[in-house]
Amino acid sequence: MRFKSIKGTKDILPEESYRWQFVEQTIRTVMHTFNYREIRTPIFEETALFARGIGELTDIVGKEMYTFQDRGGSSLTLKPEMTAAVMRSYLQYNLGEQQPLVKVYYIAPMFRQERPQAGRLRQFHQFGAEAIGGKQPAVDAEIIALSAEVYRTLGVRNFDVKINSVGCENCRPAYKEKLQKHLKNIVGKLSEESQKRFEQNPLRILDSKNENDQVLTQDAPLMKDHLCQECSSHFAELQKVLASLEIKFSVDGRIVRGLDYYTKTAYEIISKDLGSQDALVGGGRYDLLLKELGGKQTPSVGFAAGIERLLVAMEKNKAYCGNEHNPTVFIASADETGRSWSLAKAMEFRRRGISCDVDTLNRSLKSQMREADRQRVKYVIIIGQNELSSEQVSVKDMTTGEQTTIMIDELITYIERGVGKHEQRKTGQN
Ligand code: HAM
Repeated sequence: MRFKSIKGTKDILPEESYRWQFVEQTIRTVMHTFNYREIRTPIFEETALFARGIGELTDIVGKEMYTFQDRGGSSLTLKPEMTAAVMRSYLQYNLGEQQPLVKVYYIAPMFRQERPQAGRLRQFHQFGAEAIGGKQPAVDAEIIALSAEVYRTLGVRNFDVKINSVGCENCRPAYKEKLQKHLKNIVGKLSEESQKRFEQNPLRILDSKNENDQVLTQDAPLMKDHLCQECSSHFAELQKVLASLEIKFSVDGRIVRGLDYYTKTAYEIISKDLGSQDALVGGGRYDLLLKELGGKQTPSVGFAAGIERLLVAMEKNKAYCGNEHNPTVFIASADETGRSWSLAKAMEFRRRGISCDVDTLNRSLKSQMREADRQRVKYVIIIGQNELSSEQVSVKDMTTGEQTTIMIDELITYIERGVGKHEQRKTGQN
């Protein structure tokens, strides 16, 4: 029997991992330029944390969590998202005592048992950020700007930032009633999913993907038009700050989000390049979450984004995804004497920070040359008894095809100089 990876999970194979490393490194750089520091939390948590944090009635908690009992009988869950886990850590370590605004980011795998399809996996990867402790619209704007900046830096231009306000505990209940009143007469014609949401969470009917639902709810009242004074001025101020930062956005009153913790700002970044799973980023403000988890009420805002979807968007935008890690040097041995010399020399190159490969499979010289070609190395050094006796080796520059004979004890310096030039050429400093 042959084992296969679990449905909805994917291996990141050696020929594509360099793209992930490049993207992750760029994300880290952008996060650091905004002064966000990394947080890492365990892959599983107590189930109750997510049930409480994300909301019992959400799809995630209701049907998508990977929940299991450990041998001690505790109910644990593989994290479906990071926000609740970050809040748990914030409370556990009193992170707020160190500074008024705690700014953290993460890059981590998440787990949701959704129906797998293009752009939707059961183990996927998110990068995201949370700013904990600020109620000002400038904090929301910074989070939105930060998420957009990652895409801009990575060469993705084709995206739309859509913002909304989902109100707060003061204005939402009255609006919810108004919405239910409006929907009452048509609820029977809505999709099964939306009918289920009518009682408990009618706001989510507004972001239904079902076309018929969209037509039927065309004239439904929107939260953004029924905000209390505080939410309304927060939303207006956010738009002002975003405009001053020259972040292009549109207001979309139907953005509701699938997690229950949002208050005031909710936003998404959408890409038309992605097909039906078109959300690159989802985020917003969650001023009540910490209190819900047993802490002090602490206004907070954040976002998370799927890395698999980011990579698809980069491909569609023909964006640069980094370089494969090919060795700089390949030492090919012509005979046994050359072989043992090459193993030791390879170590010397490596210790000097020059990536070097060498034949360990006793292959013929011809097949070693083929291997060096396949690995797209920069230099091939050919060594054997003759070269060692004459203390000279031939070095082939694989990009120019030029072959040079040099003294063995000048070899490292020669390659180092060449690598330097090569690097300069790559960074345009020549
Ligand atoms: P979310 O909207 O559930 O929000 O997920 C954010 C992003 O993760 C989505 O826009 C999408 O790019 C990616 N994503 C979600 N599910 C999948 C999946 N099954 N397969 C592939 N990609 C997926 C959150 O997780 C919130 N914690 C965001 C947040 C942070 N809000 C405030 N702070």
